[in-house]
Amino acid sequence: MPRIGLFFASSTGNTRRIAKMIKKRFDDETMAEALNVNKASPGLVAGYSHLILGTSTLGGGQLPGLSTDCMGGGWEEFLPQLKNVDFSGKTVALYGLGDQSKYPDEFVDAMGIIYEFVVARGAKIVGVWPADDYDFISSKAFVDDQFVGLALDQENQKILTDARLEAWLKLIAPEFGLPL
Ligand SMILES: Cc1cc2nc3c(=O)[nH]c(=O)nc-3n(C[C@H](O)[C@H](O)[C@H](O)COP(=O)(O)O)c2cc1C
Repeated sequence: MPRIGLFFASSTGNTRRIAKMIKKRFDDETMAEALNVNKASPGLVAGYSHLILGTSTLGGGQLPGLSTDCMGGGWEEFLPQLKNVDFSGKTVALYGLGDQSKYPDEFVDAMGIIYEFVVARGAKIVGVWPADDYDFISSKAFVDDQFVGLALDQENQKILTDARLEAWLKLIAPEFGLPL
């Protein structure tokens, strides 16, 4: 079984597209295909020692899911299913998509919600990210003056996404066995 699992939820496909870009950087023996959480099971997540978890934020600070019109469901339904998964010994990197101009008070909040959930269950978080080049007011994903993972904004800063992703992958590379 590959060492790395990538799980995401996405409404319009932005988070899914980033998942595919990340997957391209790893061979199939190292990383399984990126999987939408509406097709995943807790047992599958529990089987990986290294995880990349991706999410958009919808509905004003919420996890994507049925109540925010995320077709087929998302983290809103799946995260509670992970309540008994032991994340201690697991290395977790997070990425989150949001819109800092339209939702400056809840920018990439869902990444912060997932962060709290996995940290409470023992996860080791890698890939925290500086918040310097963003313009937002508050975020659940902003902890100790930085983001708990990679924050991406396809609405306002799409032009920065490729470079941010590249730099972030370099950041997590030593932990995830990614060739630089
Ligand atoms: C109804 C709605 C609510 C949103 N709420 C938030 C929010 O609270 N915070 C945020 O940062 N982005 C918010 N967004 C922006 C999305 O997170 C952003 O468009 C993202 O790229 C969508 O990714 P996806 O297609 O993978 O779901 C919202 C978008 C919509 C359509």
